[in-house]
Amino acid sequence: MSKVTVVGVGNVGATCANVLAFNEVADEVVMLDVKEGVSEGKAMDMMQTAQLLGFDSTLVGCTNDYAKTANSDVIVITSGIPRKPGMTREELIGVNAGIVKSVAGSALKYSPDAIVVVISNPMDTMTYLALKSLGLPKNRIIGMGGALDSSRFKYYLSQALGCNANEVEGLVIGGHGDTTMIPLVRLATYKGIPVSQLLSKEKIEEVVKSTMVGGATLTGLLGTSAWYAPGAAGALVVESIIHNQKKMISCSVALEGEYGESDICIGVPVILGKNGIEEIVKLDLNAEEKELFAKSAAAVHATNAVLKEINVL
Ligand code: 2OP
Repeated sequence: MSKVTVVGVGNVGATCANVLAFNEVADEVVMLDVKEGVSEGKAMDMMQTAQLLGFDSTLVGCTNDYAKTANSDVIVITSGIPRKPGMTREELIGVNAGIVKSVAGSALKYSPDAIVVVISNPMDTMTYLALKSLGLPKNRIIGMGGALDSSRFKYYLSQALGCNANEVEGLVIGGHGDTTMIPLVRLATYKGIPVSQLLSKEKIEEVVKSTMVGGATLTGLLGTSAWYAPGAAGALVVESIIHNQKKMISCSVALEGEYGESDICIGVPVILGKNGIEEIVKLDLNAEEKELFAKSAAAVHATNAVLKEINVL
């Protein structure tokens, strides 16, 4: 029996749980939140769609009862506060760091063998915090940011090309921040054709900019952080792990020399399977991409340093 726990069932966590159940990724999806009754209510509401949508996964809601999460294969952490319009993800660190550390620790007590997927922001730093505070091997700590950013990149590319987003390939590496993410234009294709052959330089620049501020654009429109794509991106990561799909997905993972970086979690393509990170894919970046990656990593290191300043690490 496969079991996934989603901690924090605000918009992102609830969407992630919903996608996991609808796609029958796991037999059981446990939804846990601190707000009395909310997880139970959302789980019941979703279970009442099982007959309508035809899925067989079971959703269980609970208020802070970690015993119900016992023996999960994967734990998804979405806890913490979302962005308000005008805020950066990095500004959330003071509130979210303590919450993420505490809920991850509680969940791991009941599921010591679980793989942890981090969605909470600032995502790369929260993934690093989980890595440092839980003491798990690095293959079991994964931040989902690149999966989301790559999906937004493909969306904006498909809009510019006027084509189906499923026919576009695109990868975003680096940090999950408005100024730190790196959409890899050189490797983006439409049915194998490099997008640089199909779009003008100006159009490509526009796509890159829109991708980088994709989350902020939605926060401006919605008044809070987005949730459909973030939740679905989390579910994509979980699915590749639970079903041992060995998909190559851009995720925030611990680097030990790869891409010239160490003591950091940052977005690079990885192969995800039953052991979590099965392999870090080493792209042959050109000089410009290497420079962007080094800059992105420097910004993530700087945000990570705040964890010590606020005594969470
Ligand atoms: C986003 O980019 C919430 O960080 C997430 O929408």
